[in-house]
Amino acid sequence: MSKSITLRSLTEVIRERRTVRQFRPDPVPLDVMKEILETANWAPFHKEKEPWRFLLVHGNRREEIIALSMKVYSHLPAPTLKAFETYLRTVPIYLFVIMEESEERQQWEDDLCATAALIQNIQLLAWEKGLGMVWKSYYGTDLGRAYPEELGLKPGEKLVGLLLMGYFDQAPKPKRRTPLSELLTIRGD
Ligand SMILES: Cc1cc2nc3c(=O)[nH]c(=O)nc-3n(C[C@H](O)[C@H](O)[C@H](O)COP(=O)(O)O)c2cc1C
Repeated sequence: MSKSITLRSLTEVIRERRTVRQFRPDPVPLDVMKEILETANWAPFHKEKEPWRFLLVHGNRREEIIALSMKVYSHLPAPTLKAFETYLRTVPIYLFVIMEESEERQQWEDDLCATAALIQNIQLLAWEKGLGMVWKSYYGTDLGRAYPEELGLKPGEKLVGLLLMGYFDQAPKPKRRTPLSELLTIRGD
């Protein structure tokens, strides 16, 4: 009985979760973040130990992220930059999910898959607690290149996701999903 309740609520969380980009200013308690990460850490991984680590930036230290972003995008028109700066100040938590990069291709792929599973765990657990987020990849962008150096990532570490997190007022509309009938091929009797 309790099992079916758990399963139903997991279904709801998966279906209702949305990417959130606008946050309320309320701070997110660190205990809440730690609880989310402790549980999310039960994601599967194909190695002796987890290939990931976290860097959580909140409170006044967010100014370092904002200053770095302003430096990287200093070529943008002043009003655009100002709007970006204002937006970045509305984000209560910056969570960097960092993966140790294997030199072996197969291991690297397994580690990236595992880290993506971990991030989805974080998204779902956060949603369950009323917290929203946007998963920023920044692959190949100037900011994506600047973060590793400025945040002290070691050589061979990859930033898989920067999660901008916080409480929010309204969940955005869902992005359309393809009907299963178009995605699923079944072979067999
Ligand atoms: C690997 C990955 C990278 C993403 N990177 C970004 C990003 O850089 N900027 C952004 O605004 N959203 C990013 N997103 C969020 C997607 O845009 C979002 O998940 C998608 O629009 C589906 O919406 P939903 O999450 O509400 O279902 C990323 C999502 C994933 C899975």
